[in-house]
Amino acid sequence: MIVSDGSWTPGSWRDKPAGQQPDWPDEGALDAALKRLATLPPLVFAGEARSLTAALAQVADGRAFLLQAGDCAESFDGFSADGIRDKLKVILQMAVVLTYGSGVPVVKVGRIAGQFAKPRSAAFERVGDVDLPAFRGHIVNDLAPTVAARTPDPERLIAAYHQSVSTLNLLRAFTKGGFADLTQVHVWNQQFVASSAEGRRYETIASEIDRALRFMAACGIDLEATAVHQVDFWTSHEALLLGYEEALTRRDSLTGDWYDCSAHLLWIGDRTREVDGAHVEFLAGVGNPIGLKLGPSSTPEEAVELCRRLNPGRVPGRLTLVARMGASRVDAALPPLIRAVTADEQPVVWACDPMHGNTFASESGRKTRHFDDVLAEIRGFFGACRAEGAWPGGVHVELTGDNVTECLGGAEEILDAHLDERYETMCDPRLNARQSLDLAFGVAELLRS
Ligand code: PEP
Ligand code: CO
Repeated sequence: MIVSDGSWTPGSWRDKPAGQQPDWPDEGALDAALKRLATLPPLVFAGEARSLTAALAQVADGRAFLLQAGDCAESFDGFSADGIRDKLKVILQMAVVLTYGSGVPVVKVGRIAGQFAKPRSAAFERVGDVDLPAFRGHIVNDLAPTVAARTPDPERLIAAYHQSVSTLNLLRAFTKGGFADLTQVHVWNQQFVASSAEGRRYETIASEIDRALRFMAACGIDLEATAVHQVDFWTSHEALLLGYEEALTRRDSLTGDWYDCSAHLLWIGDRTREVDGAHVEFLAGVGNPIGLKLGPSSTPEEAVELCRRLNPGRVPGRLTLVARMGASRVDAALPPLIRAVTADEQPVVWACDPMHGNTFASESGRKTRHFDDVLAEIRGFFGACRAEGAWPGGVHVELTGDNVTECLGGAEEILDAHLDERYETMCDPRLNARQSLDLAFGVAELLRS
């Protein structure tokens, strides 16, 4: 049981201030959509969420590493099997590089199958001489700059649910049905990646893995019975729209506890982490493993208070703290947080989101991030963890399997002038497949050092 005082219900967040909720124009239509969602099957089941907590407990204990990765915002447009497959490919490739490079098991969590809702810094966006409601992700409204497109539509909650279901279905098929088999390690290298320097570096590892598997088979080790054929791949998203999350929250028949069955792991964003706010209230009561983003405005006192509130039983693996300070601030901002949380004996996973503190507008006006800043923040994160005696437990990144040009730098040296070529994100700039692989090599080196 997560909360002991008995006051929590799936709807108790409604008595607290909830930031970042859309201004739904028709309360009746919203209620009808939420009621319908509440009758639909869960996406995940409680036992799976408990297994992920157990895997994250290994991370909290310094015996595994967390790779959480995927889109900033999933899209209703161009939704396809290929897009899901290519994102999974690059995450599997990164996991191979990290596992092989460090000898540490990697817990793989996608920002996928439900990562639709976006918090915004302003509720309105000025386009020409009109103020339009901000785009909040396809689960709420559409990106097109018209009043009609930007008006929140509750039918989108149902559409997002169904897209999440079919995404998760394919992910389960891929990861349990042979595609993620370690003997397929070469197949995950997409053509446009394979021809690059990082792609060739990956191929070397893939060939060594082949050789190791052949060696084990030759020694009489029964590979049929081992874990090389299937992968555990977990889903996660920001639990932003609390009505949606509430509707998918179900009581586990085995334990009697409540689980948010919209994903395995849910996280609280940097803009909605008030101790007395609705998001903290809601997630405090569900049994899933949860994440909490901590930006540069976080104080050590707040961090400790949030840990106590979200994980009063101090259950290892229950809580992952995702620091997203920015490369220039991580050295000063992170150590005091780690020190305070460690002193309070909170068994958390420490992870680094090196994306959200490093966003800026390029000279051409594109919202972007530089690969060097991303890696520099991770380096700062490793330094801070090690200085404070904590295990640098994971990374949380925004990426796509596509050959986009949204972030600057990386081995292929994307420049400002290239950003327009394939800038496809609806929200934040993502690492492309090559940059993601580059990053994995960099993180593996840090893990080894
Ligand atoms: C995100 O993860 O896409 C996001 C909005 O992050 P943060 O809450 O850390 O700003
Ligand atoms: Co983002």
